Amino acid sequence: MTKISRKSELMPASAIRKLVPFADAAKSSGVKVYHLNVGQPDIKSPECALEAVRQNTLDHVSYSNSAGLMELRKGLVEKYYKKIGIDIEVPELIVTVAGSEGVNLSLQITCDEGDEVIVLEPFYTNYNTFAFMNGITLKAVPTDIRNGFKVPEMSEFEKLITPRTKAILISNPGNPTGTLYTKENMLALGEVAKKHDLFLISDEVYREFCYTDEPHFSAMNIPGLEQNVILVDSVSKRYNLCGCRLLGSPSLHGRCDFIRNGPVDLLAELYSSNDSIVSSLRHVFPHFSEVKHVFSEVSRYRPLLNEESLRSMCGCFVQCSLSES
Ligand SMILES: Cc1ncc(COP(=O)(O)O)c(C=O)c1O
Repeated sequence: MTKISRKSELMPASAIRKLVPFADAAKSSGVKVYHLNVGQPDIKSPECALEAVRQNTLDHVSYSNSAGLMELRKGLVEKYYKKIGIDIEVPELIVTVAGSEGVNLSLQITCDEGDEVIVLEPFYTNYNTFAFMNGITLKAVPTDIRNGFKVPEMSEFEKLITPRTKAILISNPGNPTGTLYTKENMLALGEVAKKHDLFLISDEVYREFCYTDEPHFSAMNIPGLEQNVILVDSVSKRYNLCGCRLLGSPSLHGRCDFIRNGPVDLLAELYSSNDSIVSSLRHVFPHFSEVKHVFSEVSRYRPLLNEESLRSMCGCFVQCSLSES
């Protein structure tokens, strides 16, 4: 009898997807389900993006360049990243199949099997799956709900560093905690990365979703860390275009080939992003005003999410007082 791989047998199921059959069953029996398990705002995608898809006149759905369409990459660099103060050059940015492939590739290019990556716990559940797929061990620095999941002292990160540690992987702002790393936190993390020759993989897919007055400080702006930082990004949350499966990873400064060549080249080629969608949207992604629109909608909903409303939802259990955090 055929036997699936040991890896597949042991692969942890996505905690997000595990809930889907329950939600489907509840929906089919007429229950209204609020999908708090998945980061997909129920806000209309920007009209200009929808219009671009409607106007698509492509008659040939081809492979795209494995680094992504040049026009899209240029647009993102000039009209998005430079506008928000992130200094990336076009050759440093490659388009992947959304942030998920970006995280996966980043782990693959930085780590060998048996290597270790430091994360803050709680962390985005799929980091577990990506680490497992690549034979990487995640070492978690715990954070505490009682102090609002504050980023711990750097000594807590350093305690976990061993000769197998290759990278620190952060989500900033954090999923699921919303924790925003301050500029001070980021500079300190940069020092740790530099001191121990570690990569800093910075997942900034929620960059615009900061719920404090503190501005977001990108890992790309840590001085002197250009050879350590890999930025992971996505249009999923920012433009509310989760199904597009787009954006990716600016590579280490001036070392795009480092990401694209070698074992990863084949993967990037296999997954080269959906040409028809990319082509139709290439003009619209860099429209920053649309980003603001999505974010202001999200902010409008936030006050509705309080302890009382959560407790009143059937099937929702609040384990502590939200005011504590
Ligand atoms: C922190 C974080 N990183 C990456 C992703 C991946 O998003 P996508 O693959 O849609 O770009 C998600 C999705 O929920 C996320 O929450």
